[in-house]
Amino acid sequence: MHEASRQMSDRQFKSIAELIEGQVGIRLPHAKRLMLEGRLFKRVRALKFDGVGEYVDHLSDEDALETELTHLIDVVTTNKTDFFREPQHFDFMRKVAVPELLRQHGRKTRDLKIWSSACSTGMEAYTIAMVLDDMIRTGSHFRFRILGTDISTAVLRLATAAIYNRETIAPVPSEFAKRYFLKPRDRERTDVRVVPELRRLTHFMRMNLMDSVYPVDRDVDIIFCRNVLIYFDRETQRRVVQRLASHLRPGGYLLVGHSESMIHSALPELRQVQPTIFKV
Ligand SMILES: C[S@@+](CC[C@H](N)C(=O)[O-])C[C@H]1O[C@@H](n2cnc3c(N)ncnc32)[C@H](O)[C@@H]1O
Repeated sequence: MHEASRQMSDRQFKSIAELIEGQVGIRLPHAKRLMLEGRLFKRVRALKFDGVGEYVDHLSDEDALETELTHLIDVVTTNKTDFFREPQHFDFMRKVAVPELLRQHGRKTRDLKIWSSACSTGMEAYTIAMVLDDMIRTGSHFRFRILGTDISTAVLRLATAAIYNRETIAPVPSEFAKRYFLKPRDRERTDVRVVPELRRLTHFMRMNLMDSVYPVDRDVDIIFCRNVLIYFDRETQRRVVQRLASHLRPGGYLLVGHSESMIHSALPELRQVQPTIFKV
């Protein structure tokens, strides 16, 4: 049987890298070429093309690109995430950010809005939900809503379903794992599902951080934008952070990933509270 080619020419690499950076902001330097070819190959197989090169050429047609774009984005994005990833952020949220934001809210509205702005499969959003719900159970008085956004429709489907493999909840403290996940009666099954009480408070929507306007409230209390800025160039990082910050209420917090603390130099008007925690 004829084996499809995994390779593309220099011209095709340049054209697809530019296309992806233009659409999603993700930079693809030469060092990523092999990885990119591997990822595009999934679409080559699904669509039965002769090779990656032919697939890339196919995308130069506007209509073809429009039909294929969501699939292309699904394969080129890196969606690695975890429950309780970079756990110090959740400690900070519980011990510092939420108590302080509640003092600012005063007695009026105690409805906190949290936004996970590159949410992948939702583990970040549900981690936030578990921590906030636990605060309420242990005596804090407030309500909350969480918005999760991402550019990849494939991960958003998983986030909305909130069904995960049991192994993925290993980082979840055991008390939370018991309280916030439903386990199937059938012991053979390895999936668990976030409880409806948290799912009801967590909504997901497709959004591209490259867009010039974000359809999101402008009084968000805490924005998580973790492990996505690293894929963008400096100017794009600056624009994204600036737009995100404009959706924070005064005193609100922006949390970035631990390899992304460099954004401070991109936006001096944000006050750096800790290396990866900023405040407007
Ligand atoms: C590595 S995951 C990080 C997930 C989570 N924030 C965490 O730290 O665990 C990066 C996510 O950013 C999303 N992403 C990449 N480019 C994006 C863009 N332009 N707009 C919105 N989301 C984007 C990807 O689809 C992916 O799900």
